[in-house]
Amino acid sequence: MEIIRDIGLCREIVEKLRSEGCFIGFVPTMGFLHEGHLSLIRRARKECDRVFISIFVNPTQFGPGEDFKKYPRDLKKDKKMAGAEGTDYIFIPEASAVYGRDHKTFIEVKDLGKIMCGRDRPDHFRGVATIVCKLFNILKAHRAYFGEKDFQQLVILKKMARDLDMDIELASCPTVREADGLALSSRNKYLSPEERKNAVILYNCLKLSEQSVKNGEKDLQKIKAAVLEKMGKNKYIKKVHYFDFRDPLTLNEKSRVSAGTKKILAASAVQVGSTRLIDNIVINIKE
Ligand code: PAJ
Repeated sequence: MEIIRDIGLCREIVEKLRSEGCFIGFVPTMGFLHEGHLSLIRRARKECDRVFISIFVNPTQFGPGEDFKKYPRDLKKDKKMAGAEGTDYIFIPEASAVYGRDHKTFIEVKDLGKIMCGRDRPDHFRGVATIVCKLFNILKAHRAYFGEKDFQQLVILKKMARDLDMDIELASCPTVREADGLALSSRNKYLSPEERKNAVILYNCLKLSEQSVKNGEKDLQKIKAAVLEKMGKNKYIKKVHYFDFRDPLTLNEKSRVSAGTKKILAASAVQVGSTRLIDNIVINIKE
């Protein structure tokens, strides 16, 4: 496995591999790897001739007062874990090389970036779209892998790639969970043992809403009210940022299960202690 820190060198290596006819897979990450990231790497390993991952804690996707500075980092462990999964190259650029001193260009995927997580993280998706576009421009992979854990991010990046005619496929990979259902996240590290125990309420509420829909409840507002009441009773949930039902393709909000609806995204962000957690599930509706 090779570590690449230089942008120019990364371009050269990719260009050479492409000229040799290699199919290149790419897994962008912010590091502090866990099984969720590894599931993406494993899939890339199966499908591609060469697997690149990037590790870059992207400053432009963190808002003022967010956890950019304290975002967990463990490069040594990351290298070991990525290597064990057969990663060929890890691209670890310097922030100063990625963003020049007078960086002025950002990508905004209109509307989609302002709902759900965008409501309290207004510039977050602008930062995500910008860095992913930059990484795609540097590291010209054939296919890039993203987790459904960050469902809104995935929808936004697919839209960006489509709208800007980017010559890359985006593959989506299922959410990897702990045994009790909590979605793996680098931020779970911030949770105290008590908070960790209670954090699973997020997943439980998503499953509860799925059960209600499957039992035939059509009024999604009613389900939402019941979920909010349940979450409100848990003293470890300091805030419910949102609990939404949405169309998984367009992210349009849904208040009812209407005739012909096949899939509904249930997505939520909550604050457990001082940690913001997100999760979602896609509810499949029987004909
Ligand atoms: P990061 O949070 O490190 O996640 C990197 C990739 O791993 C994302 O595609 C994310 O959806 C996926 N992932 C995280 N937890 C997962 C889980 N439990 N199951 C499956 N996949 C999971 O997302 C980012 O970094 C950044 O925004 C990035 C796209 C790298 C841009 O900076």
